[in-house]
Amino acid sequence: MARTSLLLLALAGVAITMPAEALDDLNWLSPDADRAAALTTAPAECLARPADPGQAWRVSLGQVAFRSPALLGGLAARSGISCDTCHRNGHGNPAFFIAGVSGAPGTADVTSAIFSQTRGDDTVNPVPIPDLTGAGAKTSFGTVRPTHDLPGFVHSVMVDEFQGQEPAPAVAEGLVAYVAGLTRDACPAEPSVRLTFDHAARELADTYAVLLATMDRDDRKAADFVLRSLNLALGRLAQRFPGAPEAADALPALGRDLGTIRPLIRDDPDAARRSLAAWRKRLDVAIQILSTRESLFDRRAVERFLGAGR
Ligand code: HEC
Repeated sequence: MARTSLLLLALAGVAITMPAEALDDLNWLSPDADRAAALTTAPAECLARPADPGQAWRVSLGQVAFRSPALLGGLAARSGISCDTCHRNGHGNPAFFIAGVSGAPGTADVTSAIFSQTRGDDTVNPVPIPDLTGAGAKTSFGTVRPTHDLPGFVHSVMVDEFQGQEPAPAVAEGLVAYVAGLTRDACPAEPSVRLTFDHAARELADTYAVLLATMDRDDRKAADFVLRSLNLALGRLAQRFPGAPEAADALPALGRDLGTIRPLIRDDPDAARRSLAAWRKRLDVAIQILSTRESLFDRRAVERFLGAGR
């Protein structure tokens, strides 16, 4: 079992195991689900992007946070769980299943001691994971412990439910702005998207752009968070290349380079900017190479991979 989740579960006195799969995403997929489909498609995000640049940055920062395990603490963070794991692209996740956390697939017990020591209760009360599209217009959030304001609810999910550190203020505000920006009116015509390598590479480029924009605002705490999120995204992407280890090594190496740039963000932003520009060129080279390799974005490769594991 990779990472320390077993130990953590043992400490929490919980008799469940979360099998560590080669691909994080398999750790919370219902065995009954069409797993190949769940790994290669997602519901389309219905996000309204504000015209005002400051507000647009806030929403983009929130989008990074929503997809980042760095936001959450405890077992969730260690196993790669983010808001997006349960609320895929802001929707629900009918294929979500973790033994001991879920009842039927698509449900989760948000007061489970597995995720949280402060919020855990002793009852198993999984409820359906709601679609957040349109949530910004609601006046009551959640059913288990209803709360009447979105910032308060989101804060409680991060800090109490998943034991995240208190986030940088801009990250917390961004997350609320992102959730509030999920509206039906913004749904694209096509209800689902294919998860491709290009899609993932674009997401990395977008996160990099958010990093620079956050540095431009001299918000070092938020920039540090974005950098850690970018690093985790590289690790996740590497998991999609089990058959090309030399290619997959390039991503963790880029992650290590980011680690050396991290202290500069705090201490010497100009030097950080120069190092990041050089890093970005190396990322482009890696993306170029990886785009020619077979990966677990290819549905047939996924099916073979899943078949071999059973
Ligand atoms: C383990 C799965 C899981 C994760 C991770 C998760 N949620 Fe949820 N979320 C749920 C469930 C289940 C509910 C319903 C809770 C209830 O009914 O009380 C919910 C409810 C919500 C609601 C209220 C929606 C409504 O219409 O009432 C919001 C907003 C929300 N989550 C945002 C987030 C954010 C932001 C994150 C990341 C910080 C997050 N969630 C992470 C499972 C999850």
